[in-house]
Amino acid sequence: MERSTALPSEPLLSNAVASNAAGAASPYEDKAAPDDTSGIIAYIIERYHKVHREELPGLIVLAREVESVHGNHLEALRGFAKFLEDMADSLETHMQIEEHVLFPMFANGPVIKLAIEMMRLEHDYHNYQVEALEEFIAALRPPEDGCAAWHALYAGLTKFARDLAGHIRIENETLFPRFDA
Ligand SMILES: [Fe+2]
Ligand SMILES: [Fe+2]
Repeated sequence: MERSTALPSEPLLSNAVASNAAGAASPYEDKAAPDDTSGIIAYIIERYHKVHREELPGLIVLAREVESVHGNHLEALRGFAKFLEDMADSLETHMQIEEHVLFPMFANGPVIKLAIEMMRLEHDYHNYQVEALEEFIAALRPPEDGCAAWHALYAGLTKFARDLAGHIRIENETLFPRFDA
């Protein structure tokens, strides 16, 4: 078979991480949350925690790559990869506390209301980060002929911001009120 000598138009790395970052295959992605508490907790872990963990590493790789290629002429990109890394770190710590402390406490009691209050404060911080992220996203809209990595980063970040806002909303408005009333 004749081998093509054409060079790929984008680095192979971009293609690999772009498909990963563009959309996770969570079976819960398009389903509504159940009503019972243990069902909601399982839904949050599958639909949000796992999906963030699947998508964020690829988005960080894309952010680093797009920043290194376009950061010189697009000011909004400078420092963006670091912002996303910090956001992923604080989100991971938060999700681990929920999975190892808060959710088991909801299942087995007794419920310590201060622990819920702490998570709500962290949600306030993450909502603030979502707002900052939305400003970045608005500034990062790629031109039509922009590279595939840039388009994948933009699409992936838009989905992540929407997911994180939905994640915070279901915990603050549906799950936590069952225990902190
Ligand atoms: Fe969570
Ligand atoms: Fe949370």
